Amino acid sequence: MVGVTHKMGIIGFGSMARQHYQMLIGYDRVTIKGIYDPDRNACDHAKERNLEVYPSQEAILSDQEIDIILVATTNDAHKTIVIDALRAGKHVICEKPVTISSEELLEIMDVVKETGKVFTIDQNRRTNRDFVLMKQKVEEGLIGQPYVIESRVEGSRGMPSGWRTLKSLGGGMMLDWGVHLIDQLMYMIPKKVTQIYCKMLSVQYPEVDDNFHLMMTFEDGLTAIVEVGTNHYIPHPRWYVMGEKGTLQIDSWDCNGKIVRCTDTEVQWEEEIFYTMAGPTKTMAPRNDNCTETIPLSLPEGVTDDVTVVYDQFTDAIEGKAKLTITPEQALRVMKVMEAAFQSASEKKSIDVSI
Ligand SMILES: NC(=O)c1ccc[n+]([C@@H]2O[C@H](COP(=O)([O-])OP(=O)(O)OC[C@H]3O[C@@H](n4cnc5c(N)ncnc54)[C@H](O)[C@@H]3O)[C@@H](O)[C@H]2O)c1
Repeated sequence: MVGVTHKMGIIGFGSMARQHYQMLIGYDRVTIKGIYDPDRNACDHAKERNLEVYPSQEAILSDQEIDIILVATTNDAHKTIVIDALRAGKHVICEKPVTISSEELLEIMDVVKETGKVFTIDQNRRTNRDFVLMKQKVEEGLIGQPYVIESRVEGSRGMPSGWRTLKSLGGGMMLDWGVHLIDQLMYMIPKKVTQIYCKMLSVQYPEVDDNFHLMMTFEDGLTAIVEVGTNHYIPHPRWYVMGEKGTLQIDSWDCNGKIVRCTDTEVQWEEEIFYTMAGPTKTMAPRNDNCTETIPLSLPEGVTDDVTVVYDQFTDAIEGKAKLTITPEQALRVMKVMEAAFQSASEKKSIDVSI
């Protein structure tokens, strides 16, 4: 089927669904027909955009013209709506986190099998340029074998008010940002995670984690550190990767950063003591410039980073042109990591896993 235009209905027309609307303007593989959202304000937004507003979930799901449903409600509601949409014969794209537990996702996966419909998840940050750049440079071997990958996003404005601060609706930073950062690492590293330790803080919002510190160990010994915070007035770099032959740092989403790597094959010890403001040292003395190389980093070229990439992959799978890229099995792996992180935080100990 060449040149197919799919008709999409949206359930939950809040701020993220409006982003989808905006980014799909001019995208010819999917047109948005209408929405269902019980919130009046959301319905007004839809009317302003000339979208049909359906009176109920049943009404939008029974529209035979619609073959795709986007689920972009609060996290707690994803599972039931996804299952209803699949059973109504629709292909479904669901916002992240796909569900709030792996049990819920497994229920969905059973219905995907039963209905034969295509189900994907909007893990749209796999195409973020900072991530693509880090992955490319590490995989090119520029810093040798990596042994620690640190991934952080840190703001200072707290969390948006509303459902993100409420546990029952699937709030908290692990489910909000953690899911993206973990998905990126799981997508990059196929090796099994064998140990998870996580500390979660509720600095400003008592019900949920508004900051967390997660450490994952992979079966080959690689360590990944993922940290998200909402109370950081001085953020750490977005990426900091240590390899056997060098270090990579990417400061922020704009991709400014550098690799500094070793160019001498044998480390030559200077015998003399180096005097710093904090006293003498040999171990922490800076390296001579002539035995390192600095490679500046900047925005990678040719990277498309918007939600149309996810829709291309989704519609290719619906049309049988390619295998699905963002699969429920991948989302299940991410969900299991998050669950082990919650368990580690509540039991205050590291958890052995095989994920
Ligand atoms: N992929 C991303 O980068 C990204 C970014 C932001 C949000 N999200 C995800 O998008 C989803 C929505 O987040 P948001 O920021 O748009 O929240 P929001 O509060 O702005 O919008 C949620 C909307 O869902 C509606 N809703 C709730 N329950 C419903 C139901 N049962 N049926 C129909 N509508 C219902 C609400 O009325 C509201 O309009 C969440 O899952 C969130 O994690 C993803």
